[in-house]
Amino acid sequence: MNKNGTNFRAIGNKVNRLEGKEKVCGTSKYIKDLEFEDMVYVAIATANVAHGILKFIDVEEARGSEGVIDVLTHEDVPGKNEMGDVVADYPALLKPGDKIAYVGDYVAFVAAESPELARKAAKKVHIVYDALPPVFDMDEAMMDKVIIHGDTNIKTHYVVKKGEYDPERMFENCDLVVEGEFFADYQEQAYLEPQGVIATIDLNNTFTVYGSMQCPYYVQNGVAEVLGIPYSDVRVIQTETGGAFGGKEDVPTYFAVPAALVANKLKRPAKLCLDREEDLQLTSKRHPIKTRYKVGVTDYGRIRALRCEAVGDMGGHGTLSPIVLWRSVVHAAGAYDIKNVSVDVYGVYTNKVPCGAYRGFGSPQVFFGIESMMDQIAQELNIDRIHIREINALEKGKTTPTGHLLNEDIGAKDTITKIRDRAKWETLQKEVDQFNKTHKYVKRGLGVSHIHYGVALGAMGQRLDASGAFVQVFKDGTVGIQIGGTEMGQGAKTTMALIASEILGQDISKIRVYQPDTAFVPDSGPTVASRTTLFSGNAVKLACEKLLEKMKEVAAKHLNLPREKIVVGERYFCDVENPKSCISFRDIALLSDTENVGLSATGWFKTPKLHWDIEKGFGEAYVTYSFATNVVLVEVDMLTAHVQVLKVFAGHDVGQTINLDGIYGQVQGGFVQGMGYALYEKLKHDDKGNLLTTNFNTLTIPTIQEMPEFEIEIIETPFSKGPFGAKGIGEPSLIPAPASIANAVSHAVGKRITQIPITKDYLLKVISES
Ligand code: MOS
Repeated sequence: MNKNGTNFRAIGNKVNRLEGKEKVCGTSKYIKDLEFEDMVYVAIATANVAHGILKFIDVEEARGSEGVIDVLTHEDVPGKNEMGDVVADYPALLKPGDKIAYVGDYVAFVAAESPELARKAAKKVHIVYDALPPVFDMDEAMMDKVIIHGDTNIKTHYVVKKGEYDPERMFENCDLVVEGEFFADYQEQAYLEPQGVIATIDLNNTFTVYGSMQCPYYVQNGVAEVLGIPYSDVRVIQTETGGAFGGKEDVPTYFAVPAALVANKLKRPAKLCLDREEDLQLTSKRHPIKTRYKVGVTDYGRIRALRCEAVGDMGGHGTLSPIVLWRSVVHAAGAYDIKNVSVDVYGVYTNKVPCGAYRGFGSPQVFFGIESMMDQIAQELNIDRIHIREINALEKGKTTPTGHLLNEDIGAKDTITKIRDRAKWETLQKEVDQFNKTHKYVKRGLGVSHIHYGVALGAMGQRLDASGAFVQVFKDGTVGIQIGGTEMGQGAKTTMALIASEILGQDISKIRVYQPDTAFVPDSGPTVASRTTLFSGNAVKLACEKLLEKMKEVAAKHLNLPREKIVVGERYFCDVENPKSCISFRDIALLSDTENVGLSATGWFKTPKLHWDIEKGFGEAYVTYSFATNVVLVEVDMLTAHVQVLKVFAGHDVGQTINLDGIYGQVQGGFVQGMGYALYEKLKHDDKGNLLTTNFNTLTIPTIQEMPEFEIEIIETPFSKGPFGAKGIGEPSLIPAPASIANAVSHAVGKRITQIPITKDYLLKVISES
């Protein structure tokens, strides 16, 4: 029995991960493990210039290099020479006259007998170009003195306007107005498996692309467009994927395209697997975002008005920036009930590595801003930091900062109050005060953050927000599930199996969830935005419900009962009045086979149309929101500026638990990834636009050594359209972490932290100034 009084058979249980054994034993097939007869290896020759106009490409030396089979340039692109999905500013291969927008722009693809020889030859591709002054700084880019694409560097500008949004008047009735400026820098996804694809022409004489990816459909679309062939002639199969975190949303297309172009020209399988340096240099990061906040409150801490202006660095190409920065604008005012809101978020081009999707999509940066403001306000009003969040929190009947009326129960306040109890907040504060009184060079601090997060693609991405599933029951009673969503380490396969098990009564050990294949399930959109449990989960649920009806019919016939009398138990369908009169799941499968009942079904899930006014940035931004509250305890060495996160209390409203260990895994993993952002992961560019942080010796992500102790509270407030009420947890796990850690460090050192990552240099400066 769960907290909502519902009895579930499968969901919410602690189970082994479906593909866990293969991963642990090393028998999973990752892209690197796949080899094809007669395969060639691809390497990319890049411009290596941050800004300029391409004049000439010289491939002669590369062509004559050892082991080289061919060198492809723009002339070898049969279809559309364009890779950008959302913004058309990213040629697959530059041609003379084209703009070079960053050092990683593609000028040629080398095909060779080995990856090493391909890489060697790629370095021998030379270009002639007219240099243009590069722009690396986003403030400078805003001034449009040097323009990178089109007629302005400001590619996106989104707003949210609610209530009185005139910055001159909106603060009139406030007792206190607090201002602050914050900067959240780059972050690299740092998945352990670098990007990789193989393009091959298969048995059907169509292109099949295998690869490490989040979104097979993006790859399918991208490859078909660049090759100029029908979508039906491109089939994409996801290989086991060793982490993605947003970094394999659109990006795999940019590697599938070179591989497919080579396979197309040579009629041989083509493999492109990046090494770590290439991966870091050529793939998109989390956007650096500067925010400026002005928040007006009453003397008892209710927020009356909020103004935020923010600028995000998109890098040399737009890629997914519009989607990411729209997230920033929607979430910038925080998870609070605020009457008057005015937010402007700008996205600007610079001649640096493109920025794109990363777990949280532009929201961790703005939550760092607003949650720092909340702590600052609490401090100035001398009120409790958890209390101020509680009194401003969202609940049923209130509207979000975009004016979205919440007409269902939500667990926002529960995440706050349960974490306050769990952390023993009063006692904890006293302990920290006591510790700090008796320690001069080591100080402890407590940080709080509270967030909401729009689940799925929302009003701006609703054309992609639908997902499918195909489920069949084999005659031995085993179950096969195809979904359009991908497993990338987050536990999606296990979640799908649990949903199927809950509906059908079959044990999850008898359920297989296959690698996604675009040939079998219609375009289900990207596996991003914490949408997979909701979208693929509902699609699986709908398909299983159809199968259940068919199986009930067979069972009823066999047991000689009307169908309404059949109930599903664990691996058995029984007479509701006589639990001894049963037929096993397996026998129904066998009977269905002999009686020619086809046990397969599809499911398709979409959500009702959201109402959104883009001009005012007002309305229903997302179908629902997940909520979370973090309390963290940190220790700061005041002499070395070393910060250790000692303890985390994390409360998450997930709607309904489906995959219990999956949630724990997400919460711990997400927090630690957010902790890396807050404390350790500083990316650096040189003055020519090259990334200097090109391996894990300089990009220092957290290790097991830095793992804090966790206490996790799962709050279940079911969402009416979720599968069994479930929402999403993938990204809400990370989003509150940087803000709570920054607040805890601020508390420890007694000065406000205004930038992340909180590097030692920066923190030493903050400490020495106090
Ligand atoms: Mo993610 S940033 O939802 O791929």
